[in-house]
Amino acid sequence: MSQDATARILRALDRRFGVSGKELPPLPDAAALARLLEHNTHRRYTATPVRDDLLDLLYAAALSAPSKSDLQQADIIRVRSVSKRQAIGRLLPDMPWVVEAPVFLVFCGNSRRIRRVASMRGKQFANDHLDAFFNATVDAGIVLATFIHAAAAAGLGACAISAIRNHAHDISDLLELPPWVFPVAGLCVGYPDLKGRIVPRLPLSLTTHTDRYDEGDFAAQIEAYDRRRDTALPYANQQLVELYGRAGFYGWSEDKARQYSEPMRADFGAYVRNQGFDLT
Ligand SMILES: Cc1cc2nc3c(=O)[nH]c(=O)nc-3n(C[C@H](O)[C@H](O)[C@H](O)COP(=O)(O)O)c2cc1C
Repeated sequence: MSQDATARILRALDRRFGVSGKELPPLPDAAALARLLEHNTHRRYTATPVRDDLLDLLYAAALSAPSKSDLQQADIIRVRSVSKRQAIGRLLPDMPWVVEAPVFLVFCGNSRRIRRVASMRGKQFANDHLDAFFNATVDAGIVLATFIHAAAAAGLGACAISAIRNHAHDISDLLELPPWVFPVAGLCVGYPDLKGRIVPRLPLSLTTHTDRYDEGDFAAQIEAYDRRRDTALPYANQQLVELYGRAGFYGWSEDKARQYSEPMRADFGAYVRNQGFDLT
């Protein structure tokens, strides 16, 4: 096991979870694990273009991800047209990285292909219910995550953009998505301009369980996480100050509670139904 990879894993565990002094088990490919643990989102990129043959390789890696029942219900659309990129940028003015990134992709769930296959084979499609939407969404999410990790292995940085779903109808029209195909997230891709930062996560004691779901001492764990995260990576800005005032201590839980105190994307269900899904 390489010393360098071991040191990277220990450092990432400490920064991400506040776990230190851990003994590591034997790891045949410690470098790959180190890269996963060091994941970070990049929102600023150099002007270096991303080669098409590299993108093709990353598409192949991403679409090698596991797929529910081998149904393969995810697609990737590259938005190459400058006017389409600008149109998406205009929808998301507070996310300039959407137009600045050398590459912008949209990961879609696709429940259309299987319906067309059923019709090609003269069979009825008897699974028009919520699970059809859910399965395609999960597949697209797995492909998205696999792409992000493949991109990191190629020295690239990425930022997923779920904010495109704030404008699902517009994005759908722009990309000419047919019924049963829907956007899950956009993805900015490019060579990182800044060194990434490891964003602390909730403690594993809160998010992993054995045999049964157990929240333990929920409030104490959230408060401890707020403090740990604030020490490592304090928030630069507070949300909705006009509504809630400026907090003396502003941690993750206050930020997320403020964020979700206002409705967001409440029309997404209507969009999904309009794409043909029966969500019963
Ligand atoms: C599905 C998904 C959607 C996201 N949407 C956005 C987005 O719309 N805009 C953005 O700037 N970041 C977006 N992000 C990035 C998250 O904000 C980021 O992953 C989170 O803050 C944790 O940071 P890290 O990835 O560096 O650990 C998204 C991430 C995921 C997985």
